Amino acid sequence: MSQSSSINFGVCGIGRMGRAHAKYFSESASPYRLVAVCDREAARSRELAEDYNCKAYDDINQFCDDPDMELVIISTPSLLHAKNAQLALDKGKTVLLEKPIAVTTNDYLLLQKLLQKYPERLFFGHNHRFEPAFENAREIVASGLIGKPVLVKLCKHHDFMRRNDWQMRLDCGGGQLSVWGPHLIDQGLQWLGEPAKQVHSQLQRVLTPGDGDDHVKISLSGTGPLLVEIEISNCVAIPGPYCTIYGDRGALLYQQNQKNIELKYLSPEFVWDDIEASSEAPKPGEGMHRDHNLPWISEIRPVQPEISMWAQVEIAMAIHLYNALRNNIPFPVSSSDAMEVVRVSELVKAQNPQFNWAK
Ligand SMILES: NC(=O)c1ccc[n+]([C@@H]2O[C@H](COP(=O)([O-])OP(=O)(O)OC[C@H]3O[C@@H](n4cnc5c(N)ncnc54)[C@H](O)[C@@H]3O)[C@@H](O)[C@H]2O)c1
Repeated sequence: MSQSSSINFGVCGIGRMGRAHAKYFSESASPYRLVAVCDREAARSRELAEDYNCKAYDDINQFCDDPDMELVIISTPSLLHAKNAQLALDKGKTVLLEKPIAVTTNDYLLLQKLLQKYPERLFFGHNHRFEPAFENAREIVASGLIGKPVLVKLCKHHDFMRRNDWQMRLDCGGGQLSVWGPHLIDQGLQWLGEPAKQVHSQLQRVLTPGDGDDHVKISLSGTGPLLVEIEISNCVAIPGPYCTIYGDRGALLYQQNQKNIELKYLSPEFVWDDIEASSEAPKPGEGMHRDHNLPWISEIRPVQPEISMWAQVEIAMAIHLYNALRNNIPFPVSSSDAMEVVRVSELVKAQNPQFNWAK
């Protein structure tokens, strides 16, 4: 198939996420054209195909043989991802693979092989890399406003959501480590800025039916002092902020709705005076030293752009993928980034053998 400037794409797995990919890629600022959809439930693909005036398939083999399609977005259930990617790549397609990109160790090994064989055609859909609040926070921290980060806490709190679909069953590739884990581990690794050297974790199942983990704690550190803490929980009655960062000149946070970034930081001109720690007991009445009257600046910055985070992560991913395929601009989620997310998840699984992880 010769390449035109627009990208003809197809979506396989027309559930909640498949429909979102179809919608937002078709509506993105870069030219994409939905030419085919596929779901093993024929009625689902037929219905969506009518909306987009495209072809409908109920068999992934036939779908991947469609000569009009350059890009295949795979959003089938998680345990099929790696195998479906192999099928589409073997048939010459470019693939955008939904998260979790690998659920089992065999999936992980298969992806390593596919990356060796097709390094230019396999992309990983870690779309929450493009959350506007995350991108805004990255810019603020890079500007030095809150100083050197000491601690980054990322928390996805679902307030008592007793989710009961396949994504809470381990034999279907569910559990929060697979559901929200890839997003927050990916962001956490970006904050760390290097592969994780130490990974500590504790997972529980507290509320949800099924056998999947619904309370996930992971801490990541690298060669430097920064600690990244990740918390994904279905059992938080009082949800806390989605992201909190402590720096040595201030702090930043944003709530679960990701609307505003709250900042408190020392005036950039401020320089600490030199004080020394004394071995003497404080003089009576003096107590310990406190810096009163520090020149704090507090700000609330609306997250930009002010559109739905759920829409923006898809639209931005579509634009970045277009730029990678047509303009040779590297896709921000590199394959080594994505594989590091899987390596960390594999370590977490090994640290939590009380769960019956899918093999
Ligand atoms: N990136 C994100 O933000 C995000 C959000 C939600 C879900 N997801 C991921 O997307 C994937 C799908 O999740 P969902 O919530 O859309 O699930 P879903 O159950 O709503 O949809 C899955 C679809 O795949 C179809 N399917 C199953 N086996 C198939 C096969 N062999 N061939 C073709 N179609 C098949 C099902 O009939 C169903 O329509 C999951 O892996 C999930 O982790 C990602």
